[in-house]
Amino acid sequence: MPATAALTFAKALLAHILRPGDIAVDATAGNGHDAVFLARRVAPDGLVHCCDIQPAALDSTRARLAAAGLSDLARLHAAGHERLADILPAAARGRVRAVVFNLGYLPGGDETVTTRPETTLAALEAARAVLCPGGAIAVVCYTGHPGGPAEARAVAGWCAGLPFAAWRAARYELVNKPGDAIIAFFVEKLPAKPEAG
Ligand SMILES: C[S@@+](CC[C@H](N)C(=O)[O-])C[C@H]1O[C@@H](n2cnc3c(N)ncnc32)[C@H](O)[C@@H]1O
Repeated sequence: MPATAALTFAKALLAHILRPGDIAVDATAGNGHDAVFLARRVAPDGLVHCCDIQPAALDSTRARLAAAGLSDLARLHAAGHERLADILPAAARGRVRAVVFNLGYLPGGDETVTTRPETTLAALEAARAVLCPGGAIAVVCYTGHPGGPAEARAVAGWCAGLPFAAWRAARYELVNKPGDAIIAFFVEKLPAKPEAG
């Protein structure tokens, strides 16, 4: 599947933020393309936690990471991203530099198994809680499947509700694209302010 403009845009922003040694999360592992991207950015000594609810997706991600020689930089979790707080080891909490949500269904898989607004929102809250200052959450929403438009609206609402004092949330969308919209939301946690004096 060729990367969409929205996904390419989100990854370009993440590439500016991620550093070797960072901890990242791929909240929807799928076929492992995003996991490989994240692992390359945090190499040689960082770590990417990947979750998916479908064994086929985790198998695909495992194989893609292995083919890229990046298996040691990833941990695969057979669990929904709404359980992120339980999935991550305690040492990772507050240290995660980036979380990627590439929503929808597994390309080449069962198109009726999709991310859903309730679990996506729960996972976004969990992701927000584990980010380090200066970290970011990228969410790519696809409106071309049943449930996709409602999920995109839910994500947009969640982003809009983040307090401006500590967060910046933006959206990217090709406005002349025919057909169903694909929207990238990019949420940054502001860096900690230096101590006064
Ligand atoms: C568009 S695909 C992800 C593409 C992937 N990031 C890649 O690079 O190939 C969406 C994935 O989300 C997964 N998914 C659906 N609900 C989920 C949940 N609650 N937690 C984690 N993954 C979920 C699906 O199984 C599917 O593999």
